[in-house]
Amino acid sequence: MEVEIIKLTPENWENFKTIRLRALKTDPTAFGSSYEQEIDRPEEVWRQKLATSWAYAAIVKNQFVGMARILFELGEHVQHVASIVSLFIDPAHRRQGIGEKIMKKIISDLRNQKIITKIILSVNTDQKPAVKLFEKVGFKTIGIARYGVKINQTYYNQLHMELVFEDKL
Ligand SMILES: CC(C)(COP(=O)(O)OP(=O)(O)OC[C@H]1O[C@@H](n2cnc3c(N)ncnc32)[C@H](O)[C@@H]1OP(=O)(O)O)[C@@H](O)C(=O)NCCC(=O)NCCS
Repeated sequence: MEVEIIKLTPENWENFKTIRLRALKTDPTAFGSSYEQEIDRPEEVWRQKLATSWAYAAIVKNQFVGMARILFELGEHVQHVASIVSLFIDPAHRRQGIGEKIMKKIISDLRNQKIITKIILSVNTDQKPAVKLFEKVGFKTIGIARYGVKINQTYYNQLHMELVFEDKL
C-alpha cells in the first residue's frame, strides 16, 4: 500500500474539512471540538486554519485517509514549543502504520525547524491506541489533567505528553 504524507495549503480546504468532520463524527470523544460545532463553519475558517498552522494529510489511492495539525506559539518566550493536534486515521486504514508515518514526518519536519526544541500534545486517557502511538514515537507523559474534557455530562482525564529535542537545547 502506497501512503503519501503531504502538507496542506489553503487551496486544500475542502478535503481538509471533509477529513476533519469525519474525524469528529467517527471519534467524538477524541477531540476538543464537536462535529456539530464545526459542520457549519464557512470556507474562510477552514482556509484560515490552513494558513495559520501546518496541516498534514495521509493519502492512499488519491483518498484522504488521515490528518494531523501543528500549532505554533506567537509569544517570543514560547516560540520553541509546537503542539500536535487533531491526529486522525480513518478506521478502514488503521493499524497499517499510517498514524506512525504522519507522526514521524511531523517530528522530522519540526526537528528541522531551527527554533523548535519541544513538542507537546494532550490526549484523553481513553484513547489508548493514540497514547501507545505517541509513546512509540518518543513522547513521555508529564502529567494528567483531571476532568480536562467534558462531553455531554461525562468528564475525561487528559494526559499531557512532550517530546524534547535534548540535543538542540
Ligand atoms: C491513534 C490513531 C491515529 C492510530 O493510527 P494508526 O494508523 O492506526 O496507527 P499505526 O498503525 O501507525 O500504529 C502505530 C503504533 O501505534 C500503536 N497503536 C495503534 N493502534 C493501536 C491499537 N488499536 N492498540 C494498541 N496500540 C495501537 C502501536 O504502538 C502501533 O505500533 P505497532 O503496530 O508496532 O504495535 C488512530 O487509532 C485514530 O485515529 N484514533 C482516533 C483518534 C485519536 O485518538 N486521535 C488522537 C487525538 S489526540
